[in-house]
Amino acid sequence: MRGQTEETGRYMERESEITERLYEDHQISLDGLRTLLTTDHQECIDRLFAYAQKTAQSIYGNRVYIRGLIEFTNYCKNNCYYCGIRCENKHAERYRLTEEEILSCCETGYGLGFRTFVLQGGEDACFTDERICALVSAIRTRYPDCAITLSIGEKSKESYQAYFDAGADRYLLRHETADETHYRTLHPPELSLANRKRCLYDLKEIGYQTGCGFMVGSPHQTVETLYEDLTLIGELCPQMVGIGPFIPQKDTPFGRMPAGTLDQTLRLLAIIRLLHPPVLLPATTALGTIHPKGREKGILAGANVVMPNLSPVNVRKKYALYDNKICTGDEAAECRACLNRRMEDIGYRIVTDRGDYAG
Ligand code: 5AD
Ligand code: FES
Repeated sequence: MRGQTEETGRYMERESEITERLYEDHQISLDGLRTLLTTDHQECIDRLFAYAQKTAQSIYGNRVYIRGLIEFTNYCKNNCYYCGIRCENKHAERYRLTEEEILSCCETGYGLGFRTFVLQGGEDACFTDERICALVSAIRTRYPDCAITLSIGEKSKESYQAYFDAGADRYLLRHETADETHYRTLHPPELSLANRKRCLYDLKEIGYQTGCGFMVGSPHQTVETLYEDLTLIGELCPQMVGIGPFIPQKDTPFGRMPAGTLDQTLRLLAIIRLLHPPVLLPATTALGTIHPKGREKGILAGANVVMPNLSPVNVRKKYALYDNKICTGDEAAECRACLNRRMEDIGYRIVTDRGDYAG
């Protein structure tokens, strides 16, 4: 009995050392990561979240940045095994917004206090570089005080440069996994981790505020692959990291795989905050989908961004990367008000601000 208590005590000490090193020196080992992701000592988990929250607050206070997400096309030439808008999913009802519709989303968003617009879509050849540039410059001209974020997948460096020159500031491209073998289990052979990384380094070099990221609990993910994700983040030094739980979409090859958990996502959010204190870290819609208070819990574990949807309600359900996505029936204004309340309830405040990287 006594021996067991001593054993637990020593283990706890090791846990607190790992957390202190993360908090003070922004470092973690593979073993440390394993311990923090598997411990069931509530004290340890609570301390991890408290440190992450304190770290976020020391830079961003109780301010939460808001991004208006405009899902402007769900056509995609890719066939990723996890994603509901993969080209082989014949059940996906496809749509594209017109430039006028996209600008109208921005107008609504601007009125609601959004100062970042995120244009997200599948890899849709119909949106040529010319069209993307025209769209970006139209938004840039109308809203010179706003940040424009693109999230439209893998392109050539020349294309990225053209969008940047047209006025785009930021780019989101999750790397999905930094492990070669794992990457191949999530994607068809025509997609490669090498090209994904090339894109991310090109984006950074051009001068975009760049975001990478991954799903938590994606099929075949291990502590080792997660450690590689953290290593890549350390090397790339992105300004943003997007992580959310994997959620199966029934018409995909991974439709019967288990979802990632709230618990693991929160621990990873906290770890990423502590490794990279100024990083912009969203509490994602996927996190809000697996738990009714997911986004609030995300903020309390170190996240500092929320990204509600500005897309027209009639297309919302069609941008179904995963099942049971929240907010598909709510107007932008409703989400804005709802998030205001939710953040105030936990002592935070959504701000009307571009919300640039503070590093
Ligand atoms: N569950 C959770 N996230 C997903 N994404 C794609 N499919 C799913 C899914 N089934 C994420 C990917 C992609 C981002 C736009 O959405 O990480 O990069
Ligand atoms: Fe969309 Fe709550 S955030 S309804």
